[in-house]
Amino acid sequence: MDKFKIVGGAPLSGELPVSGSKNSALPALAACLLTEEPVVLHRIPQVKDIATMQDLLTYIGAKVDSQDGTVRVDAETLDRPEAPYEVVKTMRASSLVLGPLAGRTGRARVSMPGGCAIGARPINLHVSALEQLGAHIEQSHGYVEAQALQGLEAANIHFDRITVTGTEDVMMAAVLARGTTVIRNAAREPEVKDLAELLNKMGAKIQGAGTSIIAIEGVERLHGAEHTIIPDRIEAGTFLLAGAITKGDVTVTGCNPEHIAALTIKMGQAGADIEDAGCCALRVRCRRRPKAIDITTEEYPGFATDLQAQYMSWMAIAHGISFITETIFENRFMHTQELARMGANIRIEGRQAIVAGEDRLTGAQVLASDLRASASLVLAAMMAEGESLIDRVYHMDRGYERFEEKLAAVGAHIERLK
Ligand code: EPU
Repeated sequence: MDKFKIVGGAPLSGELPVSGSKNSALPALAACLLTEEPVVLHRIPQVKDIATMQDLLTYIGAKVDSQDGTVRVDAETLDRPEAPYEVVKTMRASSLVLGPLAGRTGRARVSMPGGCAIGARPINLHVSALEQLGAHIEQSHGYVEAQALQGLEAANIHFDRITVTGTEDVMMAAVLARGTTVIRNAAREPEVKDLAELLNKMGAKIQGAGTSIIAIEGVERLHGAEHTIIPDRIEAGTFLLAGAITKGDVTVTGCNPEHIAALTIKMGQAGADIEDAGCCALRVRCRRRPKAIDITTEEYPGFATDLQAQYMSWMAIAHGISFITETIFENRFMHTQELARMGANIRIEGRQAIVAGEDRLTGAQVLASDLRASASLVLAAMMAEGESLIDRVYHMDRGYERFEEKLAAVGAHIERLK
């Protein structure tokens, strides 16, 4: 298993380019199943989760060609409308094929995801919304089977809690349903809006994506389209924190500053100097230790849970005590035990981490537990004194494109050990 060897203490300096959004690319690829015509997607990040989704589309029967970040999917025939356990267990977002398959073929069989390192992650809300759209659902042997051989019917759906992939899944099911579906308490994440833009290019009639009420007027069929995925806001946020934590001077390019406003405002309060560098770029400078500033994770436009771990690494060297509250996932503090091995002083009380800032952290051997936790450990290691070894970096490879390469190019002492 690959490891990262990192020698801390080097301030990062230079430009860090942002890739396409993994969490936008995943539903966009699933959306290609909705038409028999080819769909071409640009700025698809070349990360493991995307490769897994491409393999899943191929398994289902689509032809997938991928070259330099452009992926062409031709889903003319779908022989096997199914997401098997072997795929779903490695990537929960595989359940995103449930809605498109039920909508297009009237049949879908998707393995239920088990728990994962960050929480239970059920798909009950996806399933119950599909039932409201008229699908007959059976759950047995660890699989959800949806049948709607006469097609889906529009419904009024209210999500009991906000779910990102749930909103995406149901939006994709509803585009081919008869009548107008309304989703209330929908997720407002930029990735949901990006998916709606792609679907509308394919001939769907969706209004309100990006707000909490989405209306989807069903159409007979969708056609091929071409679309460029939005920049990855979580990668952009991770890079800003990398610049600040190493007391560097970094310009994050090709990002959408609006998508990470909740982070940049907090970083500004904590003492980082963040300026708009024009042309979708943000420059961050921070010569001092930050001031402790509390955060609470929330759905968009709140502070992203996917940036909580990375922000905590920065707060580990803050002046004062910060309270970090996680409201989205029940178990997303696995990184704290590893940060503690590097000298961080963190106490967990239920859904809150109380972080007492230390003068410095020291390099250590640590284990990555999930994608964003790995990023937090890399940030901590780049600031810590001495050498760190981060094990299980395959988590990192699931969602960050050429991460160590990009960081090394701006001065990080990071090396992949095979
Ligand atoms: N939930 C349910 N039932 C459901 C669906 C969700 O109870 O049917 C609960 C979840 O257990 C969780 C909360 O609702 O407590 C929110 O989960 P959500 O469904 O919004 O998460 P997700 O769609 O599975 C996406 C991202 C995650 C990101 C979350 C929250 C993708 C592919 N994944 O997951 O990204 O953390 O939204 O913003 O878009 C990551 O990239 O590292 C990552 C984990």
